[in-house]
Amino acid sequence: MGKFLEPLVVPSLPKNLTGFSFRPAEITDASAVYSACYAKQNHAQFLQGFRHSIREQERGRRRHLLAEGGKRIVGSGKLIRLPRKAEIADLAVTPIWQRRGIGTAMIHLLIAEAAQWGYGLVEIGAEISNSGALSLYRRLGFGEARECIRPGKEPAILLSRRIKEDA
Ligand SMILES: CC(C)(COP(=O)(O)OP(=O)(O)OC[C@H]1O[C@@H](n2cnc3c(N)ncnc32)[C@H](O)[C@@H]1OP(=O)(O)O)[C@@H](O)C(=O)NCCC(=O)NCCS
Repeated sequence: MGKFLEPLVVPSLPKNLTGFSFRPAEITDASAVYSACYAKQNHAQFLQGFRHSIREQERGRRRHLLAEGGKRIVGSGKLIRLPRKAEIADLAVTPIWQRRGIGTAMIHLLIAEAAQWGYGLVEIGAEISNSGALSLYRRLGFGEARECIRPGKEPAILLSRRIKEDA
């Protein structure tokens, strides 16, 4: 493990999530993370992105968080350091484990991590048509939407949440 991978501060999780745990991703998790969370993506592109993510985590520029239940990976998401805010990206929960609070727990953990890093603002986004994810983010206090046009891709909505009074 790289030197940045200290234990996470875990806020108290809902009772229905006992038995699940959360930890930083490691390079050896690649295949399991792909099958559990991103199997619809192109495999080669995923692998390239995953290796990049682990390198960035080792350099202290992001956290790549995994959720595990009974030693099986069930969720994945990243917290990326940007100049004035942290961004939660590529959040995904294994389809059969969705809508049980795992995504919410991961967002709480990543927000806690952003606060530890000293950020006052966290951003999160989803494609315009992804009303399920967008409603979850709004429910968790993200607002002030802005649209993000991405060449060759569906436009996304980016939402932000202040996590410090003065941000
Ligand atoms: C978005 C996502 C990460 C949320 O994780 P999760 O573990 O399912 O989230 P939680 O259980 O904490 O919260 C569930 C809430 O999210 C919203 N939601 C999640 N999936 C939804 C869906 N398919 N349809 C409608 N609402 C949905 C609802 O508000 C839901 O609350 P409800 O079940 O009480 O209606 C997960 O659904 C997922 O992996 N989706 C596919 C990938 C994706 O869209 N990622 C986000 C964009 S990068």
